[in-house]
Amino acid sequence: MFLQRYPSRLKQLLPKLRIPVVQGPFGGGASTVELVAACSNSGALGSYGAHYVAPGDIAPLVAQLRAAVGPDAPFAVNLWCHIAHDDRANLGALNSGGPEYLEKHAARVAEHYKKYGAVPPGFPDGGIVGHRFDEQVKALLEANPPVISFVMGVPPPAVIEEARRRGIVTFGCATTVAEALALEHAGIDAIVASGVEAGGHRGTFLKTDPNTPVPDETTFTLVPRVRAAVSKKIPVIAAGGVSTPEAALAALTLGADGVQIGTAFVVSDESGAAPVHKAAILDRTDPARRSCLTRAFTGRSARGIPNQFAKDLYEAEVNGELPGYPVQNYLTVPLRKKAGRAGDKDGLLLWCGQAGTLVQRGKAAEILKRFEDGVDEAAKGIAKFAN
Ligand SMILES: Cc1cc2nc3c(=O)[nH]c(=O)nc-3n(C[C@H](O)[C@H](O)[C@H](O)COP(=O)(O)O)c2cc1C
Repeated sequence: MFLQRYPSRLKQLLPKLRIPVVQGPFGGGASTVELVAACSNSGALGSYGAHYVAPGDIAPLVAQLRAAVGPDAPFAVNLWCHIAHDDRANLGALNSGGPEYLEKHAARVAEHYKKYGAVPPGFPDGGIVGHRFDEQVKALLEANPPVISFVMGVPPPAVIEEARRRGIVTFGCATTVAEALALEHAGIDAIVASGVEAGGHRGTFLKTDPNTPVPDETTFTLVPRVRAAVSKKIPVIAAGGVSTPEAALAALTLGADGVQIGTAFVVSDESGAAPVHKAAILDRTDPARRSCLTRAFTGRSARGIPNQFAKDLYEAEVNGELPGYPVQNYLTVPLRKKAGRAGDKDGLLLWCGQAGTLVQRGKAAEILKRFEDGVDEAAKGIAKFAN
């Protein structure tokens, strides 16, 4: 009841949302139509990560989501914005270095290709890796989903304007207060404040002073600081480390209008994550297990469970030798696919948040119900000390 009654600005923005919970989008294999539908139809906001979806496949995807979710609940589709400056520079390095550049970096993982029977990819056609954001977002706006969530940048003003004209709600992801202000300035409807605890890629897009460490603010400070910095009208959604009802209640207490939950849904029955990935998150043999930020798999900093591949590339990573995103991603996709199929957790990215040792398996609707009931229990537990 607590989550239903919570006076969230998110529910004002999305009147059909029953509880202020967002199932975090997953770019790559973990997103499925079934997972989005299970979450949206249980009263939360299901999200589909469409970063790897070709522009031409976006309309059919949204049609499938619409059919599975129905008219009485909202759902979101997520895109990575135009790749950040650094990433563009990485593509520039690939193009100016040509096949030799690619081969040099492929040589670093030659043993891994061999281990998994994978073939290093050839130089990409036209030097282009991945899909073009402008084409993806055009297709997505035309497909008219209830919500579009963006990560890795600020969507162009024309995109936000067109979304507003069509009645599409927009979310943007910030890992610092400065990024939240940039998103607010651009006219975004709601801000996901993503702490360093979050599983998957860091969404950082604003360059920091090169002599200071990369942003590492936790959800615990980022949420209240973003809340204090942006207009009172904008909903702030806490992401990162919300794997238990107690954490959800804590995030709301810190001023969040809702929570975005990722890792707890990666292990749901409906998620498309590889079985070996789910098993690694759910493995309880090491209570001291930790997660780490690594660039080994994609060239972009992301949080996952450390494994052999991340360890093997650690030295190259700290020495700044790895190519950045999307080049390293392009180089490791073939071996990650083979490792996933072989069920070998040492060659696969195992994205997982810092609180990943606390999640439990189950159907997405059961996981949500555990959150709803658990928040009630946690709130009652605290309330008994009030008088
Ligand atoms: C496997 C995986 C893939 C993810 N892919 C995306 C993505 O494509 N876009 C995005 O905005 N967030 C992505 N995220 C972040 C989640 O949506 C969510 O914000 C995050 O997992 C919340 O932190 P938690 O894992 O501690 O719950 C991903 C997270 C994981 C675990």
